[in-house]
Amino acid sequence: MDPRPTRRTSSTPLADASHARLPSRRRFLLAAAGLALTPALARCVAARQAPAFLRHVSPRRPDALRLACIGTANRAWENIQEVRHEQIVALCDVDSAYLERAGAEFPDAVRVRDWRELVDHARDLDLDGVVVSTPDHAHAPITLAALRAGLPVYCEKPLTRTVAEAREVRAAAARAGVATQMGTQIHAGETYRRVVEAVRAGAVGRVTAVDCWVTKSWGDGRLTPGAVAPPTLDWDLWQCDAPRQGYIEGVHPGNWRKYWAYGTGTLGDMGCHLLDLPMWALGLTDEHVAAAEVFAEGPPVDAVGTPAWLEASWAMVGVPAVGGAAPAGPGAPDPLVLRWFDGGRMSPFVQEIGAKDRVDYHNRFNVCFIGTEGALFANYGEMLVWPGARAAQWRAPAPTIAQSVGHHREWLAAIRAGRPSDALCGFGYGSRLTELVLRGVEGYRNMRRG
Ligand SMILES: NC(=O)c1ccc[n+]([C@@H]2O[C@H](COP(=O)([O-])OP(=O)(O)OC[C@H]3O[C@@H](n4cnc5c(N)ncnc54)[C@H](O)[C@@H]3O)[C@@H](O)[C@H]2O)c1
Repeated sequence: MDPRPTRRTSSTPLADASHARLPSRRRFLLAAAGLALTPALARCVAARQAPAFLRHVSPRRPDALRLACIGTANRAWENIQEVRHEQIVALCDVDSAYLERAGAEFPDAVRVRDWRELVDHARDLDLDGVVVSTPDHAHAPITLAALRAGLPVYCEKPLTRTVAEAREVRAAAARAGVATQMGTQIHAGETYRRVVEAVRAGAVGRVTAVDCWVTKSWGDGRLTPGAVAPPTLDWDLWQCDAPRQGYIEGVHPGNWRKYWAYGTGTLGDMGCHLLDLPMWALGLTDEHVAAAEVFAEGPPVDAVGTPAWLEASWAMVGVPAVGGAAPAGPGAPDPLVLRWFDGGRMSPFVQEIGAKDRVDYHNRFNVCFIGTEGALFANYGEMLVWPGARAAQWRAPAPTIAQSVGHHREWLAAIRAGRPSDALCGFGYGSRLTELVLRGVEGYRNMRRG
């Protein structure tokens, strides 16, 4: 029961395409009534035509939330596993092979290829929430439409592809007042909570800088003229609101991260997971992030593909001291600095002490809080206070941040309770973290052009 996909072509404006889909009698009546078919009206009229999938909507199960999942393979499939104890009412994917595979596991869920049909018919589907696990360029269009329809949303990281979109989603989520959660599931793990407590309790003294890095690299995406999309993929729908272009060999699945049109390179991919730690521990606000001075370095900017390596830093003034007292005396204190290294680039601090200690901190960890009294290394699952002498006398504080019920379950509980603040990475926090990361990405793209 695969519903008719709604195709739009790059050369056909939406109003014309929708108009062309209308039954001729309706078109005639509209023309006779002298109604101009604006895009909004065209969508309205098209939405009133009940799509075939609505005949197969399953009845509400008691005690379960009714969810639609947009994107079904890879990370999307992992997200589906995390919410499958609820009622999966609809699955949506632009690749029919993925959609059929997921659909086979959820025979009661309707299958849809165009997410707009899901959002347009959210009431008919009686939805309680939407899980968005598409490539990054589709996050903002889908999330904004869902929020405007009053739907709670779980959306993968980074929340958006651009800073402007992050701010728009923040505003829309605040207006909607529904439960939201960005897909930074490490936030719900034990380690990050204990790191935040340790840093705040002075494990490294007053924090002066935080270095974050990954060894991997998503870069050097190039166009491949004449490439043909896999037969199961609706390339037009996949592009969502991005400017239309021919299929790029291998871009789907996964490699869209290498293209500015769809992704944000390595920093955009991993930054939300890692910069989450300094954002949380230091209590950074929207204002700190918006006012940060950003510096970036990398290979010459390419208009199409993301860089093979990148270094970025954010200098912030006015961040209250964490882990120790602010220095006394006249003059403004030094700014707090966050630094990012990917694609093989290394933090000079980590490199230096690693060489001295003969320890490969770089490959073992991803975050280092640097303070007036020492340093604290962390990854998703462990932390280490440095140097050894300080670690020997350091006593971790009693836990103050309660264990999470799980990242997805926080969101589900927040929907049930009608309390968006129960989800710790709601779109207020999530958009701020995304903005921090994307200011680094955009800093790189802009600085090199200038
Ligand atoms: N939280 C994490 O640890 C984590 C891990 C990996 C990926 N991610 C994030 O998850 C998202 C997906 O990453 P991925 O690597 O799984 O990508 P992918 O390209 O492998 O998979 C994307 C899925 O969405 C589908 N899709 C694409 N466009 C769609 C659209 N417009 N409507 C409906 N379905 C669409 C694809 O067919 C595919 O099923 C990204 O935002 C990524 O950053 C998060």
